Amino acid sequence: MTPRPPVDTTDIAPGLTITRALTGLWQVADLERDGTVLDPVQAATALAAYVDAGLTTFDMADHYGSAELIAGELRRRRAAGEVQLLTKWVPEPGPVTKDDARAAVDRARARLGVERIDLLQFHTWAYDDPSWMDALFYLQELKEEGAIGALGLTNFDAAHLRVACASGVEVATNQIAYSLLDRRAAGDLTEAARHYGVRLLGYGTVAGGLLSERWLDRPAPDAGALETWSQMKYHRFVAAAGGWDRSRVCCGR
Ligand SMILES: NC(=O)c1ccc[n+]([C@@H]2O[C@H](COP(=O)([O-])OP(=O)(O)OC[C@H]3O[C@@H](n4cnc5c(N)ncnc54)[C@H](OP(=O)(O)O)[C@@H]3O)[C@@H](O)[C@H]2O)c1
Repeated sequence: MTPRPPVDTTDIAPGLTITRALTGLWQVADLERDGTVLDPVQAATALAAYVDAGLTTFDMADHYGSAELIAGELRRRRAAGEVQLLTKWVPEPGPVTKDDARAAVDRARARLGVERIDLLQFHTWAYDDPSWMDALFYLQELKEEGAIGALGLTNFDAAHLRVACASGVEVATNQIAYSLLDRRAAGDLTEAARHYGVRLLGYGTVAGGLLSERWLDRPAPDAGALETWSQMKYHRFVAAAGGWDRSRVCCGR
């Protein structure tokens, strides 16, 4: 058997080493958007090829369709610790109780088939309602109880990352948009993350493919003709960053 090429890894929390390039499973929700539900057994077989290639880390969320179930099926087939499953809790806006947090964590544990979630990332829709801080304290308690291995955030800005860390929440990571189109995370957020030892996990790095060779020398796509949620999302980023022609400069054209 040909030895597999080494895949670069990085430690993001005590006892948690992930591949630097990881596989995002938001696209599962997109594949299921018409109500189709992927067969977790078949889908896990497809993902096994990634693990065999050394890409052992997967990123998902509570709302990524069957992603957690597929990842759970994959995990059951592999040796303990061979795959790293990162997920997210994205509660509805409004008050959060400890029971809500526990229910969310228990649901993810059941779907992933794990006693302890490798990394649970928290998203809030609004900072003006302090419930987001309550949620983080509850998650910290669940971490101390052993249900969560490492605690992460997603889409937090620098000011609120600082508040969370200064409040004693042990934040390992913050998953944020980062690409040649969108370098908002490069300034104050990076400084805050360095200060508190928080690792930044970048998503949207190829803007859903809009920053790839597939879109070189092509006219601006009609928003209505874009096929994937990822393309639709980053098409809005392109508009915010100055339009299609400007985005081509990022591609070297
Ligand atoms: N925390 C958050 O709020 C958040 C938000 C968005 C995403 N995410 C995470 O980030 C992951 C990746 O998501 P993303 O879609 O946002 O960003 P992305 O990595 O910029 O885009 C991924 C898509 O780009 C296309 N692509 C990749 N390489 C390409 C290439 N060389 N040529 C052409 N197309 C290429 C693929 O599209 P095709 O599949 O069509 O080939 C792929 O599905 C998600 O699955 C999710 O885990 C997190």
